[in-house]
Amino acid sequence: MNVLIIGGGGREHTLCWKLEQSKGCSQLYAAPGNAGTASCAINLPIAVTDFEGIKEAVLAHNISLVIVGPEEPLVRGLHDYFLGDSDLSSIGFIGPQQAAAMLEGSKAFAKAFMKRHQIPTAGYAEFTAETVTEGEAYLAQSTPPYVLKADGLAAGKGVLILEDLESAKQELRAMLLDQKFGSASQKVVIEEFLLGIELSCFVLTDGKSYLTLPMAKDYKRIGEGDTGLNTGGMGAISPVPFVTEEFKNKIENQIVKPTIEGLKKDGLPYKGFVFIGLIKVGEEPKVIEYNVRMGDPETEVVIPRINSDLLELFLAVDQERLHEMTLDIHPDTAATVMAVSGGYPEGYEKGKEIRGLEGNALVFHAGTTIQGTQVLTSGGRVLAATSFGKNPTEAVRKSYETLSEIHFEGMYYRKDIGFDL
Ligand code: AMP
Ligand code: GLY
Repeated sequence: MNVLIIGGGGREHTLCWKLEQSKGCSQLYAAPGNAGTASCAINLPIAVTDFEGIKEAVLAHNISLVIVGPEEPLVRGLHDYFLGDSDLSSIGFIGPQQAAAMLEGSKAFAKAFMKRHQIPTAGYAEFTAETVTEGEAYLAQSTPPYVLKADGLAAGKGVLILEDLESAKQELRAMLLDQKFGSASQKVVIEEFLLGIELSCFVLTDGKSYLTLPMAKDYKRIGEGDTGLNTGGMGAISPVPFVTEEFKNKIENQIVKPTIEGLKKDGLPYKGFVFIGLIKVGEEPKVIEYNVRMGDPETEVVIPRINSDLLELFLAVDQERLHEMTLDIHPDTAATVMAVSGGYPEGYEKGKEIRGLEGNALVFHAGTTIQGTQVLTSGGRVLAATSFGKNPTEAVRKSYETLSEIHFEGMYYRKDIGFDL
């Protein structure tokens, strides 16, 4: 069958790479894709939120299954658009409907969901422009650091963590009264600060049953030792050594099961990935956030560890028979190291020629484009080098060997991925 992947980053290249290995997959398409997906799929120049363009492509290329990588089309209702169109309603679709995608589209919605289903998370309150004074009073009686979250999608920048009360109040006003994050900060969630180590848990569900995928840890800061600005992610490791069998059971029983049960009870239709951002506080897991997609760069370590046929799993999700499926997971550690453009996550230049991509190593493209015979950089995060090893140290070392063969002007990567494990 023909399959279309929506998106154009490292996550989508990894999904294409994996699906290409499925016997049932005849032709893969990626919209818009990148220079990496071009090696295993046909790229279509369609934006991820161009619903009509996607419809035309699905019909023109006889596509039977659509897999959505990023959250934006889901939060805008791409799945609902398919269901509401008689030409598209029978096409297989991986990604939740809009009502359920609100788990990522609205922090307040996600907090209320967790509260309703007794899923452990930080204490919170929500405020709007009308209640900004109450918000300031709430901050005054909270203990620092103060965590402020824009309710809506803010391209990963909507969370502020502030040490002092005056700046917290000032930021709260900027978010609610001056639209610091546009309409995303019309509502703000103020949350209790949780101290602990973060990890990412991934679940594939058909809305009835679920499979827990390998967990991963990502490295969000630009600088070594987890310092400097937040990025989309500079590297990842899977499995996570501190996740013992006992801790995994707590995650399963206290968080994953109640999440899937909660979706059912609330009548929220969900076929796709749930990405649960967790923090380990003492010995207890708590939810930091839900995302309605796979993580990036976590995908670059989680998907390569799945030996099972991914297309078979997706078809089982679409046909609501995921309960029939099991997962075969590679026991070794996978590590990925992200090479980024100089200056990222602030201003950076694009269009730099990338050399040294000829090797056989697993190098997933995040921000690349093809021009003639050249591969050029086209984003902040450019390439993710994934390797396997018996432990994080060995896996990461191989990724560094891979990256030492690759060059583009301004290329930077962290040399300490996995340092804390
Ligand atoms: P989010 O977009 O909700 O994942 O938040 C971005 C980052 O802010 C998270 O990955 C955490 O590092 C941090 N963060 C969010 N909420 C909290 C919290 N309640 N306590 C401590 N850190 C948090
Ligand atoms: N790596 C974090 C994310 O995809 O949101």
